[in-house]
Amino acid sequence: MTRYEQILNRLPVEPKTWLVTGVAGFIGSNLLETLLKLDQKVVGLDNFATGHQRNLDEVRNSVTNDQWQRFSFIEGDIRNLEHCREACAGIDYVLHQAALGSVPRSLKNPIATNQTNIDGFLNMLVAARDANVSSFTYAASSSTYGDHPGLPKVEGTIGKPLSPYAVTKYVNELYAEVFARCYNFNTIGLRYFNVFGKRQDPEGAYAAVIPKWAASMIKNEDIFINGDGETSRDFCFIDNTVQANLLAATAESSSALNQVYNVAVSGRTTLNSLFVALKKELGVNGVTYAKDPIYRDFREGDVRHSQADIGKIKDSLDYDPLYFIEEGVAKAMPWYIAFLK
Ligand SMILES: NC(=O)c1ccc[n+]([C@@H]2O[C@H](COP(=O)([O-])OP(=O)(O)OC[C@H]3O[C@@H](n4cnc5c(N)ncnc54)[C@H](O)[C@@H]3O)[C@@H](O)[C@H]2O)c1
Repeated sequence: MTRYEQILNRLPVEPKTWLVTGVAGFIGSNLLETLLKLDQKVVGLDNFATGHQRNLDEVRNSVTNDQWQRFSFIEGDIRNLEHCREACAGIDYVLHQAALGSVPRSLKNPIATNQTNIDGFLNMLVAARDANVSSFTYAASSSTYGDHPGLPKVEGTIGKPLSPYAVTKYVNELYAEVFARCYNFNTIGLRYFNVFGKRQDPEGAYAAVIPKWAASMIKNEDIFINGDGETSRDFCFIDNTVQANLLAATAESSSALNQVYNVAVSGRTTLNSLFVALKKELGVNGVTYAKDPIYRDFREGDVRHSQADIGKIKDSLDYDPLYFIEEGVAKAMPWYIAFLK
């Protein structure tokens, strides 16, 4: 039995109290759904900056009444230390997801990104430390690799940040390390690489590429590819990301703590092949998209290639990603069709 299977078996028998920040967002709401289905008690914190009530409603509809009763929601802001303290009271495991995502958003408004992603992060560290939580797992980012050209990306070798967003995610790691050194407060940072799946917002100027393209194809709108389409990413299906969070939160070996880990599948999918994969999967679901993509300039702040080495998280946390891009796209597409039609 894998360590993840052991955790899935153990948690319902020995339930814990979890805090998920950013719970109304894409990753947060998927964490919430998994935890409630495992009969855990969950506190959620969100200010709906980019998250939606509809995500919480969807989770409510996917669990039993008893499971939903184990969830309590705080509409609050991580930029407010008191909200963070309220949310951390009585918590065993923190899964800190709240942040303003998106490189272009941070280029447009670096101050807002900094306030939530750095000030808010520090508030959460202080509140969690003072509440004596058992573990603190946070969403780091592959953007921390910045301009380092090496592939695949290995945790210990990073370059210079390419955007304000990347600076904030790197600063999170620095603060986390300092909290271990100065306060003996251990954390685990998960450097997510292009997560995708149900409830990832397809709307708005800062939508990620998979939901944005899926939405455009379903509505028969033009698809724009920034650059020549050979830009590549290590797309990671949400269920793998959820697994990484549960493994990190429950890690006990001291060598596994105070570390950052890549979370991905170590795949390398170009935008051109992503276009083909999405079009094919839509076809399987009875939606035909006949247009060719339109190529335009490269986007500022984007890295050219991103592929993770996942040896460290496999070795230290027993991570074993169960879904590669094709399986993930196949699982996510019916949700997008239902959501957008
Ligand atoms: N999705 C990805 O591919 C990806 C990649 C790397 C890192 N991340 C990180 O993962 C985390 C979750 O991302 P996501 O894709 O689910 O994004 P999301 O925008 O769907 O979720 C973020 C949530 O945080 C909430 N939030 C924002 N500011 C807040 C504040 N000040 N106080 C309280 N809540 C606040 C939002 O309302 C939203 O519900 C973020 O930290 C993001 O930087 C995501």
